[in-house]
Amino acid sequence: DAAEKSGYDHYMLKEIHEQPRALRQTISGRIDADDGTVDVDVDLPSEYVDSIEEIQIVACGTSNYAGRYAAELLESVVDVRTTVEVASEYEFDGGRDPWRTLVVAVTQSGETADTLSAIRRAKRAGARTLAVTNTLGSTIVRETDDSVFIRAGPEIGVAATKTFASQVATLTLLAVRIGRARGSLSYARARELLESVRRLPNAVQGVLDREDRIREVAREYADSDAFFFVGRRFGHPVALEGALKLKEISYDHAEGFPAGELKHGPLALVTDETPVLALLTDGSRPDETLNNVKEVQARGAPVIGATTADGDGEVAADPTHLDVDLPVPAAGVLEPLVANVYWQLFAYHVADEKGRPIDRPRNLAKSVTVE
Ligand code: G6P
Repeated sequence: DAAEKSGYDHYMLKEIHEQPRALRQTISGRIDADDGTVDVDVDLPSEYVDSIEEIQIVACGTSNYAGRYAAELLESVVDVRTTVEVASEYEFDGGRDPWRTLVVAVTQSGETADTLSAIRRAKRAGARTLAVTNTLGSTIVRETDDSVFIRAGPEIGVAATKTFASQVATLTLLAVRIGRARGSLSYARARELLESVRRLPNAVQGVLDREDRIREVAREYADSDAFFFVGRRFGHPVALEGALKLKEISYDHAEGFPAGELKHGPLALVTDETPVLALLTDGSRPDETLNNVKEVQARGAPVIGATTADGDGEVAADPTHLDVDLPVPAAGVLEPLVANVYWQLFAYHVADEKGRPIDRPRNLAKSVTVE
C-alpha cells in the first residue's frame, strides 16, 4: 500500500502531486502551437461542426465544475451557446434541433449513473453525443458517438484532483479544435490559448513547490467556523470546486459563490471566523473581485487570495493587504485552474490536520452507479 502511494500518506496527495505529469500526458502529441491547431482524434465532421447551434455539457460533481469552466471557454472561443447541467437534472428540451446540438458528457469514471442516463436521454432525442473521460472501455465510451480521453492515469482517491485539471485541459483543446474548424477562433487567439495549455504543467509545479506555505495556512485556519470560496468568470467554477473539495474530505462547512453574489446573501454569514478564499488571477476579473474582498475584510474575515505572480514567480504588489497572498504562475485564462491546486492542498491539509480518512470520506463513493 505504502509503495503504491509512492511515499505519500494518501492517494489524494499523491494524485495532487501527479498533476504536472498527468497534464503532460493529456497534452502530449495533441497540440501544434505554431499552427494554432489541435488533434484530439475526435470524429466531428466539418459539416457537422459548422451546423452546431448549441453545446450541452452534462456531468456530476467535480466533472460538472470542469464542464462549467469549459462552457465559459466554449462560449467565448467557439461562439456557440453552451449550457452545463447537473446530469441528474438534465432534460432534453424538445424545442431545440437535436441534430444541431452536441451533448458532451464529462465523467472521470465513465460509469456515473446520472450521466449515463442523461446521455441516453440526449440520444433518444437524436442529438450527437461525445464523452470526455478518463476510462477506456467504460460504459460511457460504448454509449456515446465518440470519446476523447483525458489521459490523467488512474485516480484512487475519492476526491477528484488530477482528473479535474486534465478534464479542463482536454476541454480547452476541444474548444480550440471546434473553434478553429468553425472559423470562429482566430489563429492568434488559438495560439494564445494553446500557449496557456502548454504552460500548465510547469505552472502547476510552481504551486506544488509552495506546499509548505499552504500547509501552514491550512493549519492556521483549520478551526474556522466555515469557509467561503469566491471567484468570477473562470474563477467561479474553481470556487465551487474548492468548496466541494474541502467539504468532501474535511467535513467542514464550505461554500463557493460567484464573488459578486456575496452581497446578495452570503455576506450575512461572514465573520472574523469565516476565511474567504478568493481567486484574483487573470481570467477571474480580479479588479472587480477586489471590491468584494474589501467587503468581507470590512466584516473582519481573513482573506486568502490567489493572485497572478510577478515575472519572478513571486507575489506581485498587493493593494488589498490580503492575510495570505499565494502567487499563481502565469497561464492566462487557465490561471484559475492552476490556482485550484492551492485549494486542493488547502483542503488536504485541513482534513489531515483533523485526522480525517482522506482517501475514503464518509458517505461518498468514487463512482456512483445509482441514480
Ligand atoms: C462521485 C465522486 C466525485 C465525482 C463524481 C462524478 O460523486 O465522489 O469525485 O466528481 O462522482 O464522477 P465521474 O466519474 O462521473 O466524473
